Amino acid sequence: MNVKDRIVNKLFKKNKYLRVDKFINECLHEKNSYYKINNPIGKNHDFITAPEISQMFGEIIGLYIIDYWIKKIKSHFNLIELGPGNGTLLKDIIRVSKINPNFLNYSNITLIDKNYNLIKIQKEALNSLKINKIKWAKEFSLSSTLPSIIYSNEFFDCFSIRQFYKKKHWLEKYVSYHSSENRFSFIDKKIINIKLLKKLEKFERNGVAEISKERGEVFNKLCKHISNNKGIIITIDYGYDQSLNNFSLQSIFKHKKTHLFDNIGKQDITSLVNFDELKGIAKLNNLKIDIYCSQKDFLISNGINDRKKILKKNSPLQKQKKIEEEYKRLIGEKQMGNFKVLVVSTK
Ligand SMILES: C[S@@+](CC[C@H](N)C(=O)[O-])C[C@H]1O[C@@H](n2cnc3c(N)ncnc32)[C@H](O)[C@@H]1O
Repeated sequence: MNVKDRIVNKLFKKNKYLRVDKFINECLHEKNSYYKINNPIGKNHDFITAPEISQMFGEIIGLYIIDYWIKKIKSHFNLIELGPGNGTLLKDIIRVSKINPNFLNYSNITLIDKNYNLIKIQKEALNSLKINKIKWAKEFSLSSTLPSIIYSNEFFDCFSIRQFYKKKHWLEKYVSYHSSENRFSFIDKKIINIKLLKKLEKFERNGVAEISKERGEVFNKLCKHISNNKGIIITIDYGYDQSLNNFSLQSIFKHKKTHLFDNIGKQDITSLVNFDELKGIAKLNNLKIDIYCSQKDFLISNGINDRKKILKKNSPLQKQKKIEEEYKRLIGEKQMGNFKVLVVSTK
């Protein structure tokens, strides 16, 4: 059964309306849905990510991670990537880690992903490196008490969100289904729940809010784990601090923006990550904020310009031009340079 039929049969038989987060969850994370079976990343698919643009991205993240390990751990540890996509970022990190072979020798690597197709691609990509201790898990739940280095790129934007806006009153967006026309539409419902209204008070100024319960819960779990066992979390995503001016929910199919109700279960759906919320969760877990900055600033202050010079020096002219273009995509303020990097660690 396709995802649209499943949503109609499973959910709209019992309910007249469906909360937006529940609708997104069905499209992205439930049976046969986008993040269960699709292969989203790459030129011929739906979108491209920083590790796929250039090896420089993974190398700079890798050098940062190895430097942390040398300074703060220097023994056995967990290296955990959330949502590794095609496995490219880990491949680049492993390559630069050759500067200190002990790093790999001491690491227990775990990849967290739910996507059967991507896990297959990750296994193929990483098998060739002959590292035999990589484990896969569908979600983060670690019993190990070793310190951990946890990192992710474009993972937290995949969680579903609820959407609220204020006119006279706070309203929440819901999805309804019109069986005669076999189509979905949005409707608004007034919020009367006192606890929820209290939560929305901090979004009063702009009157727009997107809230993801699951995103906060997963980040909290990671923070708790390193708070108890030491370590660091590096989160890279597109997002905001303070507040949103407009809804950020967007859907993408084959590199083009679409409507949420198009290509049900076959397109990517994302939203900006609320970094203020993540910072707040880290602080509640007694972690310190080491870095919060743009991807541009992070890459530049950690050596991407030098890395680019070295790569260009050993390349023919055509390749030099390509390296320059890739560099601009990673740091350009209207491109990925505007993404945010949050690094939190134990005190
Ligand atoms: C946008 S892709 C980013 C891939 C990769 N990090 C990169 O930069 O190319 C999101 C990744 O997270 C995985 N993912 C999304 N939501 C997830 C969830 N709730 N649990 C586990 N993996 C998830 C996807 O399958 C995919 O590998």
